[in-house]
Amino acid sequence: MLLEIDNLKVEFATGQGPLHAVRGVTFELHEGEVLGVVGESGSGKSVTAHSILRLLPGNGAITGGDIRFRGSSVLAYPPRALRSYRGPKVSIIFQEPGRSFDPIYTIGKALEETLRAHNPEMPEAEVQARSIRLLKETHVPYAEQRLHNYPHQFSGGLLQRIMIALALASDPDVLIADEPTTALDVTIQAQIIDLLLELKSRRNLAIVFITHNLALISEIADRILVMYGGLVMEYGAAREVLDRPRHPYTRALLASILSLGEHYSEQALQTVRGGTPDPRRPEPGCPFAPRCPLATAQCREAVPPLLEDGTQHRCIVPGEKPEGLYARD
Ligand SMILES: Nc1ncnc2c1ncn2[C@@H]1O[C@H](COP(=O)(O)OP(=O)(O)OP(=O)(O)O)[C@@H](O)[C@H]1O
Ligand SMILES: [Mg+2]
Repeated sequence: MLLEIDNLKVEFATGQGPLHAVRGVTFELHEGEVLGVVGESGSGKSVTAHSILRLLPGNGAITGGDIRFRGSSVLAYPPRALRSYRGPKVSIIFQEPGRSFDPIYTIGKALEETLRAHNPEMPEAEVQARSIRLLKETHVPYAEQRLHNYPHQFSGGLLQRIMIALALASDPDVLIADEPTTALDVTIQAQIIDLLLELKSRRNLAIVFITHNLALISEIADRILVMYGGLVMEYGAAREVLDRPRHPYTRALLASILSLGEHYSEQALQTVRGGTPDPRRPEPGCPFAPRCPLATAQCREAVPPLLEDGTQHRCIVPGEKPEGLYARD
């Protein structure tokens, strides 16, 4: 097993008390597999990703659970082990491009810094050759010339490719891509998905692909993790989750895409009525219960366990897919 996330809990200290960003998330990532993580804004996707790399800000802490890489607990790594884990084992494309680039450095300088961070003795010529190879691998045209350009001189799609190149510079086993295509138009999004799929097979790269957009996930994921309110709502093989969604939240996400037809977008999720839960005051039951037309007294009282029936899902309410129930009206 490459990566195991076991009942992860993360809190932030805030002026208004503790904020429960991740409340018990469990999943696995296998060699060379793409795990799609989907959920509305605030569901804890980025916090989970940053926790895997132990990159939480000062007010954040992992308060429960474990993260294991090839069987060893990442939470127990001393600083040295952490340095050879972040990057060479697990690399991330941050949701905010500003965390990948410094506007005052050329792309060549950014690549050089990343390459040298892991190999301080790397000769100049090799840095140059590897940088060009990384840009070519991510299909950045005129790689040699473009090393001398600054981030602002690239289009959004090209910048995204360069962010992928930077994340690959440490030759990772796992790439976490946090909403890598959100700001891009649909055609460019599709090209980035193709690139990630190409890298997956060429490098046997395992990918955690985080997005708001369930439609995009269907094109790339082998397995899908649906998050809501800092919890896993549903987890299983992509085809299972997409063809036979068990949790009403997943069904609602799918219905919101279908109701928009070809024109799905980041707005799709907002067509699920109601607002997301307040992470400062988590309710005792299923976090989706206040928005769920199928909610029972039982699922409002306590968070239902992850049920293991094909896919793992939290919904205790049996029944067939209620057609049209969640469609936009
Ligand atoms: N540094 C922080 N301090 C306090 N709260 C935080 C901090 N970072 C994140 N949070 C909170 O943790 C919760 C989960 O945030 P997270 O960024 O993981 O959501 P997300 O699923 O990635 O959303 P999005 O789709 O908008 O990126 C949110 O309520 C967010 O406000
Ligand atoms: Mg996020």
